[in-house]
Amino acid sequence: MLIKTPPMGWNSWNTFGENINEDMIRETADAMVSTGLKDAGYEYLVIDDCWSEHGRDKDGRLVADHVKFPHGMKAVADYVHEKGLKFGMYSCAGTLTCARYPGSYEHEFIDAETFASWGVDYLKYDYCYHSPIVPGPYLYRRMGLALENCGRDILFSACSWGSDETHEWIKTTGADIWRSTGDIFDSWKSIRDLTQQQEKLHPFNGAGCFNDMDMLVTGMYGKGNVGIAGCDDVQYRTHFALWCFMQSPLMIGCDVRNMSDATKETLMNPGLISLDQDPAVRQPFRIAKWDGGYVDKVLVYARHLAHGELAVGLFNMDSEKARAQFNMDELALPESTGKTIEMHNVFSGETIMPQNGAVGRVLEPYACEVYRCRIVDL
Ligand code: GLA
Repeated sequence: MLIKTPPMGWNSWNTFGENINEDMIRETADAMVSTGLKDAGYEYLVIDDCWSEHGRDKDGRLVADHVKFPHGMKAVADYVHEKGLKFGMYSCAGTLTCARYPGSYEHEFIDAETFASWGVDYLKYDYCYHSPIVPGPYLYRRMGLALENCGRDILFSACSWGSDETHEWIKTTGADIWRSTGDIFDSWKSIRDLTQQQEKLHPFNGAGCFNDMDMLVTGMYGKGNVGIAGCDDVQYRTHFALWCFMQSPLMIGCDVRNMSDATKETLMNPGLISLDQDPAVRQPFRIAKWDGGYVDKVLVYARHLAHGELAVGLFNMDSEKARAQFNMDELALPESTGKTIEMHNVFSGETIMPQNGAVGRVLEPYACEVYRCRIVDL
């Protein structure tokens, strides 16, 4: 499989953990359509850990939990497909999954065949309980080969949390996306930490193998499996904007059957989604790394987009009001070029034109402003 833009969808882990079953999966598929998420681009419905029986069948195949999924996984996949969505599942490179269900170690080919026979379109592949003597690249390459030979196009989502220098070898494995961070939790600290962890990994993101900053916590409000403190709507919006700016996969983690209006507005912001899905897939660059506490409190990023456009994002990562500013020089557009930018705010729709070669904006605590920019004559 060769993917050109980051996948978008929903994953069961953040809110539901082990509390999954076929009814809530069906309801989630229904909600992905009725709320407009599908039309906004969210196409994968992924069941994470805790879906199987604890033992394999007599032929060594994985079996869906009979109580949670009494009609079997193929029936669930069929329902998801009937809704026009794609279906994703989860396994692990170790002997056990992280929640101690059977892993795919030394069952890679038979498991890939099983997933294909159920109609699986996406496999998240975790890294718990892996052999201490068999290296990670080998384990992911083996599943990569199994998936490529299973007779079905299955997106390979590697999840080794960036450990063992994943960035150095992941592109040898056939992975389409790879977890470049540790697990996310529903707190501002976690969002800020993952954003920072990503900074040195931006050069490794690209079409065909995207850095995955983990599932979104937008709309969880502290409820569910990874809910801790929860965040407010401003923080959730900045979180979503950062993930879009970095071109991470967008896998929703909240209960989409019960989304607040603010959650819907954030997750379906067309301007942000178009940045995430920009076909040029260029590396973002950080500007305005100044002294005086601005270095990590206020992030200013830019990114070249398709068709000669630019994205500029100003992110206040801190609890105090702050000023974000940058000069046109830092976008490689000094006055001598005779050019400036027309900045279109993806939230408010307002357009601003920088005066005097500089832009300065005051940001409320944890707030962000994101702009799509056109190059115009001065
Ligand atoms: C790991 C992964 C999570 C989730 C859990 C399931 O922690 O990183 O995203 O899949 O396992 O047990």
